[in-house]
Amino acid sequence: MSRWREDAVVYQIYPRSFQDSDGDGVGDLAGIIDRLGYVSSLGVDAIWLSPIYPSPGADLGYDIADHCDVDPLFGSLAELDRLIAECHARDLRLLLDLVPSHTSIEHPWFREHPDWYVWSDDGPANNWVGAFGGPAWTRDPESGRWYLHSFFPEQPDLDWRNPEVREAIAGVVRFWLERGVDGFRVDAADCLGKDDSLRDNPLAVEPFPFPLNPEAAKLEPRYSRGSEGIDRALRALREAAGDAYLVGEVYLPSSRLGEYLRWFDSAFSFDLLHAPWEATALQRTLLADAALEGIAWVVGNHDFSRVATRWGSERARLAAMLLLTLPGPAFVYQGEELGMTDGPEATPPRDRFGRDRFRHPMRWDDSRHGGFTSGEPWLTGGEAGGASAQAQAADPTSVLSLYRRLTAVRRELSGPLEGAELEDGLLSYRRGEDHLVLLNLGDQQRGDSRLGQGQGIVTTEPTAIREGTLAAGCGAVIRSPNR
Ligand code: GLC
Repeated sequence: MSRWREDAVVYQIYPRSFQDSDGDGVGDLAGIIDRLGYVSSLGVDAIWLSPIYPSPGADLGYDIADHCDVDPLFGSLAELDRLIAECHARDLRLLLDLVPSHTSIEHPWFREHPDWYVWSDDGPANNWVGAFGGPAWTRDPESGRWYLHSFFPEQPDLDWRNPEVREAIAGVVRFWLERGVDGFRVDAADCLGKDDSLRDNPLAVEPFPFPLNPEAAKLEPRYSRGSEGIDRALRALREAAGDAYLVGEVYLPSSRLGEYLRWFDSAFSFDLLHAPWEATALQRTLLADAALEGIAWVVGNHDFSRVATRWGSERARLAAMLLLTLPGPAFVYQGEELGMTDGPEATPPRDRFGRDRFRHPMRWDDSRHGGFTSGEPWLTGGEAGGASAQAQAADPTSVLSLYRRLTAVRRELSGPLEGAELEDGLLSYRRGEDHLVLLNLGDQQRGDSRLGQGQGIVTTEPTAIREGTLAAGCGAVIRSPNR
């Protein structure tokens, strides 16, 4: 495996909110190309683009009407080709978002190939619930039959039992690889395996460990996700992708990612993203997940509250140090490098599942609309909090400057995570022979003899280390030979 994917830093761009180039209030590919210098300056290895395909927008791009084109809202195929070339010229890899589990109801496949979808003749076939609430079955007025949808009713599920479906999505994978993309983030990968006889899900006997829609939380998704056929589906994706990078979005506890990691290079740790900011819980997560070959670390994405809101602004720096000092790929959602907070609710709301607050545009500078658009931003109602990229670039003590130092130091780190000891709120772990990471998660300063001996190479705050102690809520990476 080449080094970039072993411990890549991947920057997630949510295209709609990154940079608008034509004043229509929606970010676009030309805007991303204009900002590639900034992306490079973060010291990241790759970009993951949330969907840019033609879409009616019921799930803001995750309802795809043509997997092999670019929505005019974002640009054109020619512009995507230019983005690929510009990324490669900067030694950045480009990952697209592959959404294999469902299409838009407006995808021509839905009418041309009804047998590529999952149907029931007389009403819902079972008790399954959509991830956004409500029954997972909706009546198609045209045929009078009911179709399955794991997400919104506008997103009918493809039937992965059908070999033609596996071949159609393999064709999509090949199409983009031939254009030069370097891999994919595979959306909702656990939805590719469903019980053949569509049995009812049992009532949940214990709470699901991550946030779920309350209706979905009542059932254990035993037969609707990660069930029969998952292996066959994942193998088909791997065969189509060859050795291109695949990272799976599998909304399951990390302990259940094993079968996905047989086929994917990595799968996200939602255990870390949803961990409480509490030393023992974080230590437990690191120890368990680091032992899994292929875990991809992530602390935020377009579906969940941002770090500075969820864990708190004062923790954004320590969270950045944690994320970027772990072995294995680390994913950074746009704006996290600025310590951005959630924005206000949009009026009117754009996402029916309430995720608008996590998707506000980047604040590039202190001009009107933060330099994101010369028009009116697509999300109305106000902007997310946090200083602009321009202001932070000029401030060596900013969150942005810390991110840049951390990605630089990360290149020196090697070897597995060792240790992960916890003492009085001070979490520490080694990376290889030479580096020690100390994160003070407590509310008291902590002394540690290793602080005196080692040489601090990056600290979360300029004053983090004083006379052999690490200030409360601060972290340090030190060079400290393990001899
Ligand atoms: C994934 C995406 C989310 C989308 C869903 C359905 O969870 O991250 O944004 O709504 O899949 O495609």
